[in-house]
Amino acid sequence: MTHDNMTPKEFVYKRIDNYKDMVESDPYQLHYHLMPPIGLLNDPNGFVYFKGYYHIFYQWNPFETKHGTKFWGHYISDDLVHWKHAPIALAPEDWYDKNGCYSGSAIVYQGTLYLFYTGNVRDDDGNRESYQCMAVSSDGLHFDKKGPIIHVPEGYTAHFRDPKVFCKGERWYMVVGAQTKDEKGEVVLFTSTDLESWDFKGPLAGSDLNGLGDFGYMWECPDLFELDHQGILIVSPQGLGAKGYEFNNIYQSGYFAGKLDYHNLTFEHGDFTELDRGFDFYAPQTTVDTNGRRILFGWMGNAEEEASTHPTTQHKWMHNLTIPRQLDWRNGKLVQHPVTELRDLRENEVKYENVTVSNQREAKFSGVEGNVFELCVSITDWNATGFTIGIGKNNRMEYDQTTNTFTLERLSFAEKNKVESRHCVLQKLESIQVFKDTSSIEIFINNGGVVFSARVFDDPEDIGVIFRVIGSVTMNVRKWDMKKVL
Ligand code: FRU
Repeated sequence: MTHDNMTPKEFVYKRIDNYKDMVESDPYQLHYHLMPPIGLLNDPNGFVYFKGYYHIFYQWNPFETKHGTKFWGHYISDDLVHWKHAPIALAPEDWYDKNGCYSGSAIVYQGTLYLFYTGNVRDDDGNRESYQCMAVSSDGLHFDKKGPIIHVPEGYTAHFRDPKVFCKGERWYMVVGAQTKDEKGEVVLFTSTDLESWDFKGPLAGSDLNGLGDFGYMWECPDLFELDHQGILIVSPQGLGAKGYEFNNIYQSGYFAGKLDYHNLTFEHGDFTELDRGFDFYAPQTTVDTNGRRILFGWMGNAEEEASTHPTTQHKWMHNLTIPRQLDWRNGKLVQHPVTELRDLRENEVKYENVTVSNQREAKFSGVEGNVFELCVSITDWNATGFTIGIGKNNRMEYDQTTNTFTLERLSFAEKNKVESRHCVLQKLESIQVFKDTSSIEIFINNGGVVFSARVFDDPEDIGVIFRVIGSVTMNVRKWDMKKVL
C-alpha cells in the first residue's frame, strides 16, 4: 500500500498535517482524554511502563471515521496526565497484517519492549485469516516486526485475536480472545519460556464452560491477572442479550473473579460483572506500574456506530480513551478510581461544606458550572427520596431512593430528540465524582464502586450544573476546572 510513492506512515503524517486545523477547530476536541489526531480510535493496546514512561497504544484507522485497516497509534507520558504523541508504532504493511494490526499487549523483558498483536488478513474472496505476531523495540519508539508466532489452532475460527501476555513465575502466559467452530466465545491460554515458541493449552473460560451456560459467540480483548490474591479475567463478550438493567449496550465489557490455578491451568469463577454501566465503554486493558498499581484504560466507544451521527466526524475524528483508572478489590468486587495524578489537572477550586438542599428543583452553587471540570459531591446527611444532578441541559444523573435505582440520561446523538438512559441498582448513594470533558463524561459513584461513561455533545455554551432534591440532602461539594493538556 503506497500513496504517491509515500509509505503508509508518511501518508498518515501528511494527513495529520493537512487536517490539523480542522480537528483543532472542533469545540468537542477533548482537553484531557486521549483522542486520535485524525480518524477513528478504538481499543487501548500495549499499555506498559518502560524506561521511565507509560506507553499507551491504540487501535487506529487514520484514513476514515469508521472501522477499517488498523494501525497502532502511540502516546507516551511520564505521569499519566501529560501525554505526547510518539511515532506510529505499527502499520499494516506486511503480508501477515496487511488488513490491520489488531489489538494486543506489551511486556518488558531484559530491557526490551515486546508487542504482541493480531495480524488481520483478508484473502481475495474476503475470507479472514489471523496471526498472533510479535514486534520488539529497545527505545520504546521504533518497532521491529518479527512476524507471526502463533497460528489459529484446530477447532477455532479466524476470529482469534487480541493476545495479552504476562509473566508468572518462570513462565510467560498469553490469553487470546477466540471463537470455536461452533460459534462459542472463549478465552484460550498459551504458555512459553522464551516468548517466541508458544504451547496451546486450551480454553480457560468461555460460553458453556465452567458452568457458565450460553454466553456469546465471540470473546474479545481478554486480560488476566491477580489483584489482592483474587484471579480476575476481564473480557469483552459479543452476543449477550440485555437482561434488565444489565448488558444494555450492543457489546459488553466486564470481569469474572475466581481462583486461578497455574498448575492445572484452570479458572473457577463466578458471574460476569460489567465494568461500566454507561453507554460508551469497551475493550479495556490494564497494566501494573512500578508502584504496583493495576491501572486500566478503556475505549469510550462501543462497536460499530454510524459515523454520520457522531458530531466529531465533521471534524474528521471519532472516539477517545477513558481516563486512567486504578483498580482495587474491595468487599468482593472490583472498584475503579481515577488515578491520583489526575489531581494535577485541577485549578480554580470552588468548595461548599455541609450545604443542605431541601425540596428544590434547580439549586445552583455559585461557581459550580463549566464545560470541562471535575466535580466531587459527598453526602453527609441523607433524608430524601430523590437526588438529581443535571449537567448542561441534556445530561442528568439521578438517584431514586424509592426504587434504589441510579440513572444516567443523555440526549442521543444517533436519533434526534431522543433521550436515552442507563441504570443500575444502588442500595445507597454516598458520593459522586464526575469527570467532564468537552464531549465525554465519566461518573464514579460511591468511591468507584460503580462507573458510568458516556460521550455527550452539549452546546459548549451550556455550562449549567443544577441540583434537585426531593426531601433534604446535606453534602460537601467541590469543583475544579480542568487544565487542557492535549
Ligand atoms: C475490539 C476489536 C478487537 C480487534 C480490534 C480491531 O473492539 O474488535 O477484537 O482486535 O477491535 O480494531
